[in-house]
Amino acid sequence: MRLILIGPPGVGKGTQSALLVQRKGLVTLSSGEIFRREIDAQTDLGRLANRFISQGQLVPNEVTIEMMAKRIGQLDVMKAGFVLDGFPRTIPQAEALDELLSDMGKPLDKVVSISADDEIIVARLSGRIGCTKCGEIYHARNKPPKREGLCDKCDGPLFVRQDDRAEAIRARLQIFHEQTSPVIDYYGEKGLLQLVDGRQDPETVFKVIVGEIGA
Ligand code: AP5
Ligand code: MG
Ligand code: ZN
Repeated sequence: MRLILIGPPGVGKGTQSALLVQRKGLVTLSSGEIFRREIDAQTDLGRLANRFISQGQLVPNEVTIEMMAKRIGQLDVMKAGFVLDGFPRTIPQAEALDELLSDMGKPLDKVVSISADDEIIVARLSGRIGCTKCGEIYHARNKPPKREGLCDKCDGPLFVRQDDRAEAIRARLQIFHEQTSPVIDYYGEKGLLQLVDGRQDPETVFKVIVGEIGA
């Protein structure tokens, strides 16, 4: 199964990817997560990416495409198939991915577009908390951890993302509407698109996705 999860920031792509990994054994690649690991490791790529991410801007296409092409090309990822979360999110990225997968003879099976209104997005991002160790995603009101500041799963310390500040959230939403919405239409024209209502609770969204992709 080769799948893309696409949608606005905070709609639940990471939450659904985690469920697909935990319950369906799928392999996910999140461009945002990969960038955040590079930032934590203070690599050159991390330093470059951080200049954009902290402001809610996109990392330049060439940098993102090169990084993701390398990951996707890795054999273990290809064998099991993959779920892409957060990539592609511009038309040049979508075209580069098409070319890469067609060279590999491994075309996409489906693109799942999760949607919700901007108001819901802002509420979700404003309360998000993540685990620094295992990546589990919580929400201050909707999904609070059992102990404040600590992960239920691994006891790791929890943190708030730098790009979940109000101005960065606004910038990310605007970029989504300008640059990522056209990517959704692009896959619609190719007949690969499944639309999923992301306003529902995470378990319901998960059931719908599993039904759509037949996992
Ligand atoms: P990335 O990490 O991909 O961020 P994003 O797309 O903005 O999406 P998020 O991770 O913020 O949200 P999500 O949809 O995963 O929601 P989540 O499950 O966490 O990218 C970060 C940055 O990296 C970008 O801004 C850019 O700078 C750079 N970047 C990444 N990819 C790039 C690319 N391809 N090109 C260029 N630059 C790139 O859920 C959010 C919250 O809501 C959580 O608290 C969760 O508990 C809660 N929640 C989730 N689902 C539900 C639900 N159904 N009901 C109620 N609450 C819910
Ligand atoms: Mg995410
Ligand atoms: Zn954890």
